[in-house]
Amino acid sequence: MQKISVKGGKALKGSVDISGSKNATLPVMTAALLGQTLSTIHNVPYLNDIKTMAEVLRTLGAQVGLDDHQLKIDPVGFNKFEAPYELVKTMRASIYSLGASLARMGEAKVSLPGGCAIGARPIDLHLKGVEQLGAKVTIEHGYVHAKATKLKGANIFLAGPHGPSLGATVNVVLAATAAEGTTVIESASIEPEVEELVNFLNVMGAQIEGVGTSRLVIPGKKTLKGVDYTVIPDRVEAGTFMVASAITNGDVLLKKVNANQLTAVTDKLRQIGVVIEETAEGLRVRGGGDYKPADVMIMPYPGFPTDMQAQIMALLAVVPGISIVTETIWENRFMHVFELNRMGADINIDRSHAVVKGAKKLTGAPVMASDLRASAALILAGLVADGETLVQRIYHLDRGYEKIETKLSALGADIQRVN
Ligand code: UD1
Repeated sequence: MQKISVKGGKALKGSVDISGSKNATLPVMTAALLGQTLSTIHNVPYLNDIKTMAEVLRTLGAQVGLDDHQLKIDPVGFNKFEAPYELVKTMRASIYSLGASLARMGEAKVSLPGGCAIGARPIDLHLKGVEQLGAKVTIEHGYVHAKATKLKGANIFLAGPHGPSLGATVNVVLAATAAEGTTVIESASIEPEVEELVNFLNVMGAQIEGVGTSRLVIPGKKTLKGVDYTVIPDRVEAGTFMVASAITNGDVLLKKVNANQLTAVTDKLRQIGVVIEETAEGLRVRGGGDYKPADVMIMPYPGFPTDMQAQIMALLAVVPGISIVTETIWENRFMHVFELNRMGADINIDRSHAVVKGAKKLTGAPVMASDLRASAALILAGLVADGETLVQRIYHLDRGYEKIETKLSALGADIQRVN
């Protein structure tokens, strides 16, 4: 089993290129299934989640090639509609095949994703959406089976108790492209990854209106062609490197970022005392000031993202004073707290709130990653901890961060992958 070893105490300096967005690439890959010809997708991060989605697409009959950050997806052979448990259990985004298979074949069978380390992950909104488009849904033997002789456009309100759902919006948009008549999604997710999906479908010929807003109007039955497309930079990887610079009192220039999609993170880091400048070359993030504690409320976009909650907590763990982090999206996304506390952090959880008392110092320890972003938070903590931090279960990390140890080490961190 591989581990990441980090020895803390080095201020990060230099520049880093941010990779393409994992969470934007995954829905775009599924949308490529709906084209009549091959799509080529550029700036794809080389990650395990992308390989898993490629496998899902191949299982459905498409041909997929991944080479040097470029994906070629030929949907011509797409003629199966079952996404099996073995794939869905390793990556929940496999559920996007529901919308694509319904659109193309009028039928989809997808293993139910179930819960995971960050909480219960229901799909009721996905099912409500496709049912309103005319699909009959049954759940049997751990699988969702959706069938529609004809998909029909509908007005669909898609928010749930925690606000809009990214995943449900993706599935309903995909299915609606094949419906007869227009679909209007009210309270659609406005996460940049949905915007990216809609942009991609529009380049394919979908003519969806309302891109980037919570009201999407999808005309349906447009002929979609394969296209050449470059995906947006990864806002979560960018945010993670911003915190890496802040926590080590570093001076790091992030290149190939989209600063507009990072405003909540930038704003919060500035409140804490980090200096962030937008330059022609990218985003320069300088730490080292007198940091102040902060209240961080996790919200759907454009609020502070749930995928940055663990990382900002690692920073607040060493900021003097009391900070509060409130998680509103995933009820159980605090597993990193117990590991941070083993490194000397002082964090208490009260339902959806984490009360973080800034510690004078953290000390390196063997720690266990519980999920993707938690593993990044433990590495960030390790960058400032005294001595060695050994992060285990880094298969989580490899799902979503491309060569993080190489990138951090190029910035001066003492970090390596060990067997
Ligand atoms: C969510 C995040 C996304 C992040 C991803 C992984 C939001 C809006 N989405 O996307 O930024 O990258 O987690 O951390 O912040 N829900 C239901 N019923 C459903 C679907 C969802 O109640 O059918 C609830 C979920 O339990 C959750 C909330 O809605 O509380 C948002 O879920 P959703 O956006 O669908 O999750 P992901 O697509 O995984």
